[in-house]
Amino acid sequence: MPWVPALLLVAIATGAHAQSTGQTSVAPDLRECYTNPWLLNRNNLPPTTIQTLIDIIRQIEDNPNVNVDMRTMAALLLHTYRQDGIEYHSRDGVASANVLPFSPTFHSFHRHRLLLRMIPSNLQALPNNTLSAPLKCALHHMLSTTVDARLRGDESSCGQLSQYRALRTSRSVRSVKDDVELLDVSKLRGRNGQMRQYNPNDDVESTGSFGPKRARQLMGDSACPILTGVVKTKWGDVSVGNLIAGIAAGTESQQVPITELIRGSTLNYQNVQTTLTSIFPATLSGDLAEAVLIQGTRGSQIISVGTAGHWNSTQAQRFFMLSERSNVEMTDPEIRGGIDGFVLGNSSAEGLRIYSSLRLSQLLDMYFAPRNGFFNTNLRACNRRNLSLTHINNDALASETRAFTAALDSIMPLEGTLTGGLEGLVQSAITNYQTYTSNTMNDLNCIITEATSPDFRLRTNLYIVLDSSWPYNTIYPAISYLLEAIEVNKYGSSVTLLSAADGRVLINQTLSQSEFHLLYNATTHQSFPTGVNLETSLPNIRQLLLDTLRNESSSNFVGGNSSVLLYLLNSGTIQNNNNVWEQARLLREGVPDTRLVFGTSSNQVENLSNLVRDPQNDVITLTLTSTGTQVDTTMSQVLSTIQMTGRRVVNPLCGANFAAGSSGVRQFDDSVEAGFINFYRVSPNYFYLNNDNARVRVSFGTAGVVQGSLTVCHSRSVILPRQNSTLEPDASAITCQNVVTATNVDMSLQNACNGFSTIGACPPLYFSVQANAVGETTTATCTDVNVCRFPNSIRYQIEVDGLGCFSNATNLLSSVFFVLFGLILNIVRSL
Ligand SMILES: *[C@@H]1O[C@H](CO)[C@@H](O)[C@H](O)[C@H]1NC(C)=O
Ligand SMILES: *[C@@H]1O[C@H](CO)[C@@H](O)[C@H](O)[C@H]1NC(C)=O
Ligand SMILES: *[C@@H]1O[C@H](CO)[C@@H](O)[C@H](O)[C@H]1NC(C)=O
Ligand SMILES: *[C@@H]1O[C@H](CO)[C@@H](O)[C@H](O)[C@H]1NC(C)=O
Ligand SMILES: *[C@@H]1O[C@H](CO)[C@@H](O)[C@H](O)[C@H]1NC(C)=O
Ligand SMILES: *[C@@H]1O[C@H](CO)[C@@H](O)[C@H](O)[C@H]1NC(C)=O
Ligand SMILES: *[C@@H]1O[C@H](CO)[C@@H](O)[C@H](O)[C@H]1NC(C)=O
Ligand SMILES: *[C@@H]1O[C@H](CO)[C@@H](O)[C@H](O)[C@H]1NC(C)=O
Ligand SMILES: *[C@@H]1O[C@H](CO)[C@@H](O)[C@H](O)[C@H]1NC(C)=O
Repeated sequence: MPWVPALLLVAIATGAHAQSTGQTSVAPDLRECYTNPWLLNRNNLPPTTIQTLIDIIRQIEDNPNVNVDMRTMAALLLHTYRQDGIEYHSRDGVASANVLPFSPTFHSFHRHRLLLRMIPSNLQALPNNTLSAPLKCALHHMLSTTVDARLRGDESSCGQLSQYRALRTSRSVRSVKDDVELLDVSKLRGRNGQMRQYNPNDDVESTGSFGPKRARQLMGDSACPILTGVVKTKWGDVSVGNLIAGIAAGTESQQVPITELIRGSTLNYQNVQTTLTSIFPATLSGDLAEAVLIQGTRGSQIISVGTAGHWNSTQAQRFFMLSERSNVEMTDPEIRGGIDGFVLGNSSAEGLRIYSSLRLSQLLDMYFAPRNGFFNTNLRACNRRNLSLTHINNDALASETRAFTAALDSIMPLEGTLTGGLEGLVQSAITNYQTYTSNTMNDLNCIITEATSPDFRLRTNLYIVLDSSWPYNTIYPAISYLLEAIEVNKYGSSVTLLSAADGRVLINQTLSQSEFHLLYNATTHQSFPTGVNLETSLPNIRQLLLDTLRNESSSNFVGGNSSVLLYLLNSGTIQNNNNVWEQARLLREGVPDTRLVFGTSSNQVENLSNLVRDPQNDVITLTLTSTGTQVDTTMSQVLSTIQMTGRRVVNPLCGANFAAGSSGVRQFDDSVEAGFINFYRVSPNYFYLNNDNARVRVSFGTAGVVQGSLTVCHSRSVILPRQNSTLEPDASAITCQNVVTATNVDMSLQNACNGFSTIGACPPLYFSVQANAVGETTTATCTDVNVCRFPNSIRYQIEVDGLGCFSNATNLLSSVFFVLFGLILNIVRSL
């Protein structure tokens, strides 16, 4: 064994303690994902987006039984849920209860096994009950790279790929050369000298896990095979296995002696460095080595890198289809995941220095964000191309790739034996990787990202009232789009699904997109009550919302999120009459902070406009299609109406009856990211009759810790007030002040409705809290994960005083009574 400094040596998991995901059968805890027909159908699992990935990781982190640091979390995810290369093996109609027709035989499995040894986990794996079965399987498929090349029958819709199909399927005898991943290992045994050196007790053993050649070829017919292990992000589709492995490997950089890694197999190439830095094989070198070995043993001198693909749906992505079926060792998502994983692994030590309790979900949430990034605006997915140049050293990449190629060669079955020329092949792969990354991959860059994404985030309680006469395939993409856009998650919005027939709850309020997607499928959609009846649904929903107000009152809720009731209607002409109008009025007056909005498949503006507050914006015609195309343009008006609904600030005493006295002084904490802005709305129902003390205050809170600089703007006419607004011609309509050292910004509501004869006529108070942009953060400013989404968010306090309760729905006189009563009380006190 070559000499290696003791400090750099890594304890490598021994065969006896090998992880189950490293063994040559499907790991026991993952088997139900392949045996349960419901879980086996990917259409039943949540869509594979970065948002659902972060949602699932957050659920693990929030589990009180899982209390580990970020690196351990990343390593545990790999050891528990990642098992690359699982393939289906045809049984020719013969089924046996004792055989699962899946096993890890695809080429990606071999690298995965080496990786598990290089990224050790002190804890073996997360307990089986950490996640529900569907979320466990969803996470498994997001983390595990494999290619499913079975013929599906929908290949004619591979879009521009249909040309490949004619070419491929016309060939009756397929050359093994084209699809080395489908190789018959029994034929190869002995060809590769290393195979004979397997120790039967070693987890690298692969005997018996390869199906008969005929079976494997039968399934290899798809012109656009499905690549798993991919999630969609705005900045390109990313292989999560590479991403998480890079973070796990980079957070605790390790030097691994090759001889230890391959456990006694001999190296074909001695002329390589003797140790590996784990972050390289975990990310780019791993895929480059696969491409070199597989294409190289086919006789290629040029190693092809990069394979594009696409989702077969614009919303709710579940199937990522490759545009080619050969050279699939280093696909586009694997390249992106490799770069992202490398950059984040390379930067995570610095991130942990800034905030040692950083969570994996926060790291991902910061990097895959339109602004700010991972404590530094450079560290964003939109800047991937620059990052790949600044973080990845070319010489290191070449020599690490050579060494890992040699290691992988000694354990991976191949269709030939490379006897020389390794350096040239590795160089070809790296050159092609570099040109492909800089010339061909054209992901959304930071400039366009910033220009096209809002600088505010939504926190909305969205109630969707669904007309089940929508075809599921038409309405599902629209709802999915909305949930992503309003960011349904622990720190953002919630969604509740109600029936347009009678207003009953179809899906309970949830902050989890994955949970919503699990509950809302084509079957449940079919089971929803049919018809649209505003006369029945409106009063029932009002009761639900009044219930919510009661609950908020008893939990002393002062504000923080907005509330939108969105009807999505498909039925022709909607019955609107006096009774409906009366119900809408009761809703508006009883629940003044909830905005009623209609989205209808045919133009109903005329018929419905008397029900809403802002007829121009609140009745929207939707042209949706069953293919889900253009859903973003169609739904953008709904989105902008939701965006124009500020977060509530309320008098918590009002509850459902709207008959209570002055709020007194009450407050809640909120937070905002650098460069972002939060918008609020205080309804006149809380200040219609004058109270000289009525005000809203923004401050850094009782602790008085100044964390940054905040600007507070307010207006009575501009719904989204901000500083130096170019959109607002009348700048005097907006007043802005800075919250600096321990001073507060007060917005007085004294005589705020003077001259308005009804509550409805008096405009609300609109205000905003904005944090100045910064390029880089060096300290964690908010470490309370219940208040702040990011550790560098700025926390502040909103305090109300002297808010009342005024509603037409209740007797205004009783409100007057409370005001008089308060007045008398004050007089008595002052005597
Ligand atoms: C994991 O949990 C599921 C559901 O409770 C169960 O069906 C499965 O057998 C468990 N797996 C193992 C290996 O215990
Ligand atoms: C995408 O393809 C899969 C696999 O063929 C299929 O089950 C699914 O219905 C397709 N989705 C859409 C939206 O076409
Ligand atoms: C980041 O990567 C570079 C080379 O690619 C390396 O020199 C440096 O030590 C790495 N830094 C960390 C913190 O891993
Ligand atoms: C990325 O690199 C380009 C060209 O070198 C440069 O113009 C751009 O400002 C860089 N972007 C960032 C965010 O650093
Ligand atoms: C909503 O939650 C309640 C209480 O947890 C439960 O009883 C009810 O069945 C749920 N409703 C739906 C539609 O899931
Ligand atoms: C639809 O979702 C429900 C609730 O999660 C589930 O019980 C049902 O099996 C699902 N149906 C299909 C066809 O997936
Ligand atoms: C209000 O709180 C009660 C008791 O906690 C709960 O049963 C009910 O579901 C809540 N209602 C709403 C609408 O949240
Ligand atoms: C949003 O509103 C609900 C009540 O409707 C409340 O329970 C929840 O805490 C609020 N969330 C935030 C983040 O303010
Ligand atoms: C409005 O609704 C009534 C029935 O309630 C219907 O007769 C009328 O055509 C509708 N008008 C429009 C413009 O849709």
